[in-house]
Amino acid sequence: MRAILKTKAAVVGALMASTTMASAGDVEVLHWWTSGGEAAALNVLKQDLEGQGIGWTDMPVAGGGGEQAMTVLRARVTAGNAPTAVQGLGFDILDWGNQGALADLNEVAAKEGWDEVVPDALKAFAKVDGKWVSAPVNVHSTNWVWANKAVLDANGIGVPTNWEEFTAALDTLKAAGITPIAHGGQAWQEATVFDAIAMSVLGPDGYKAAFIDLDEGTLGSDAMKEAFDRMAVIRANVDDNFSGRDWNLATAMVINGEAGFQMMGDWAKGEFLNAGKVPGEDFLCFRFPGTTEQVTFNADQFMMFDQGGSVSTEQAALASAILSPSFQSAFNVVKGSVPARTDVSDADFDACGKQGMKDLAAAAASGNLFGSMAHGHAAPASVKNAIYDVVTAHFNGEYDSQTAVEELVDAVSIAK
Ligand code: BGC
Repeated sequence: MRAILKTKAAVVGALMASTTMASAGDVEVLHWWTSGGEAAALNVLKQDLEGQGIGWTDMPVAGGGGEQAMTVLRARVTAGNAPTAVQGLGFDILDWGNQGALADLNEVAAKEGWDEVVPDALKAFAKVDGKWVSAPVNVHSTNWVWANKAVLDANGIGVPTNWEEFTAALDTLKAAGITPIAHGGQAWQEATVFDAIAMSVLGPDGYKAAFIDLDEGTLGSDAMKEAFDRMAVIRANVDDNFSGRDWNLATAMVINGEAGFQMMGDWAKGEFLNAGKVPGEDFLCFRFPGTTEQVTFNADQFMMFDQGGSVSTEQAALASAILSPSFQSAFNVVKGSVPARTDVSDADFDACGKQGMKDLAAAAASGNLFGSMAHGHAAPASVKNAIYDVVTAHFNGEYDSQTAVEELVDAVSIAK
């Protein structure tokens, strides 16, 4: 209910804001980068454009994972008033592209050689019928764990390398009176945790079969039940106030030592950096145990909505700024993600960023790179939302693991 009210308020706000639309020479950008770290990264883009004399009309819609932003977007498009540029993920981009709502970026893409430098995994979500329809900003991945180093050190905990070591660490923290896992109880956050848990239990082939191929046998397997059992262990290690908490507030619990770990995508690093924390000294980043060779990715892109006619000068300038190698480095250093181009140096990135770049390249080369289910890169929104519902209901104790598996099979088969 609260989520619906929140969304309604966001839509009304967005429609009101649309009456003060961007004027010629400006871009109106709809996005969900509203946390401290996200806003700091967005500023890099704003300043880049300002330097080119292009004004920025900001259209933020809070809500991690972008569900609320996508609701606002649909309302704006239905009202015949699409924003110039919109943050988008995976299958949502393809959906708008297939509807013919997006401008053709092929001219700027050809001039700047995007085809040669953007990896195939991203192109699959940026091009429709051979036409570039969005500009990739970054590559995030979801199978990370963030830890407070002082808390781990004080409790004699090293980086866990398997599920048993991880759960032993959780037990130690609990016994010490520290919240083992900082978590925000929102469906997309539970799905983000599930991405990593499912990958570690099902393995890469099983993850692909379940969430990309939507194979019934894998969705209904014993391994899937085991994944739900492990989600119940995670649930037993969060604090009492987790429900509804925003992801960045959960990150803050790790930053200030109230909690030991957070399982979250690498946008969490943006929060640590924004708080002046240093990787390796104040906080640790590591792949969720059992997923060190895999990467479940989500790439933020900016879709350029067709404003009637060909791509506008401002849209082309925005797209070109986003893909420039200097921006790709400057932005992603702050955001926590890694570049969407393969030819950007890792020199300016911190240890977690360097590892992220290395992991991504290695996973792509070894066939271990998969679109994130939780962040719209494995299956279309209808299926994603069906999985969200089951994972969240189980996390909140509505289903036991066996029921969750059965519900998952049914929900996906109805949604697909
Ligand atoms: C986006 C990130 C964002 C995160 C939390 C993800 O879906 O890809 O850019 O920081 O949601 O808002």
